[in-house]
Amino acid sequence: MPPGPAPQQMPERQPIPGVKKLVAIASGKGGVGKTTVAVNVALALVKLGHKVGLLDADVYGPNVPIMLGTTQEPLATMDKRIIPVEVAGLKMISMGLLNPGDKPVIWRGPMLHSVITQFLRSVQWGDLDYLVIDLPPGTGDVQLTLIQTVAVTGAVVVTTPSTVALADVRKAIEMFRQVNVEVLGVVENMSTFACPHCAKPIDIFGHGEGAKTAQAYGVPVLGEIEIDPRIRIGGDSGKPVALLGENALGAKSLFDVARAVTARLEAVSANANAPSVQID
Ligand SMILES: Nc1ncnc2c1ncn2[C@@H]1O[C@H](COP(=O)(O)OP(=O)(O)O)[C@@H](O)[C@H]1O
Ligand SMILES: [Mg+2]
Repeated sequence: MPPGPAPQQMPERQPIPGVKKLVAIASGKGGVGKTTVAVNVALALVKLGHKVGLLDADVYGPNVPIMLGTTQEPLATMDKRIIPVEVAGLKMISMGLLNPGDKPVIWRGPMLHSVITQFLRSVQWGDLDYLVIDLPPGTGDVQLTLIQTVAVTGAVVVTTPSTVALADVRKAIEMFRQVNVEVLGVVENMSTFACPHCAKPIDIFGHGEGAKTAQAYGVPVLGEIEIDPRIRIGGDSGKPVALLGENALGAKSLFDVARAVTARLEAVSANANAPSVQID
C-alpha cells in the first residue's frame, strides 16, 4: 500500500537571511507609544554600536517614516529586492510603502498572508545584529501572520499604566504565548511626569501598574519611560531624542530599555541554543 499523506505540519518560521536577532515591538492597543519606543530603541542600539534595521509593519498606521523624518523612496536591486532606506545609520523599511497615500488599507484574510510574506521576503537587509519590528497594535490576524511568518527571537509589549491599556497587555502576552514567541518583557511608557515648575513626579496615567501586570505573568519589566514633551516633539519633528545620545534630556530611559532588550535577547538565544538535558 502506498504511504498515506504526510502529517500536516505548521509552516516553519523562516529566519531572515543575515539577521541575527529579531525583536517585535507590540501593544494591545494603539496610542501607547509603541512606535516611539521602536524608533528610539532602534536608534539607541545603533548608538550603542550595533547593526540595526527597523521594519515598520504597522499596516494601519505606518508612522516610522514620519518619526525618522524621511520621505525617501527605497530603491530596488536588479533582481527586484527592496533596499532599505538609511537614517543615521539605521536601515528602515515601512509597510506604508504598500499603501502610498492616505487611503486606509483594508487588510483581509486571504490576501493578507501572501502580501505580508512576500514583502518580508523581498527586503535585502544585509548583515544585521538586530531587526526591530513595529507591529500593528492589537492581537488580530495581521499580528499573528507576522509573528508566524518570521522567526521572531522575542517580543516587547509596550503599555501605559492605565487600566484599559493593561487589559490589552494581558491579551498580547497570551497571544505570544499561544504561538510560542518569548515575551522579553513589558515597557511601561508615559509612566510618570516631572512637573516643570516644582520637579515633583505626577502620575498622569498611574504608575507601576505595568510592573504588576508583568509580575502576574512572570515576565520582566524592561523599563519605565517618563512622559516628556521632548520625546513627543522628537517624534513629531523627525528627530527622535535617541539621536542626540544617551545624555540628552529625555533619552536616558530609552537607552536603558534598549540595553535591557539586548540582555534579554542574549538570554533567550542562549537558552534556545543550550543542549537539552538528557535523562537516562
Ligand atoms: N514617553 C512619552 N512622552 C511624551 N510623548 C510620548 C511618549 N511616548 C509617546 N508619546 C507621544 O504619544 C503619541 C503616540 O505615540 P506613538 O508612538 O505614535 O504610539 P503608538 O505607536 O502606540 O500608536 C505620539 O504623539 C508620541 O510622540
Ligand atoms: Mg504606531
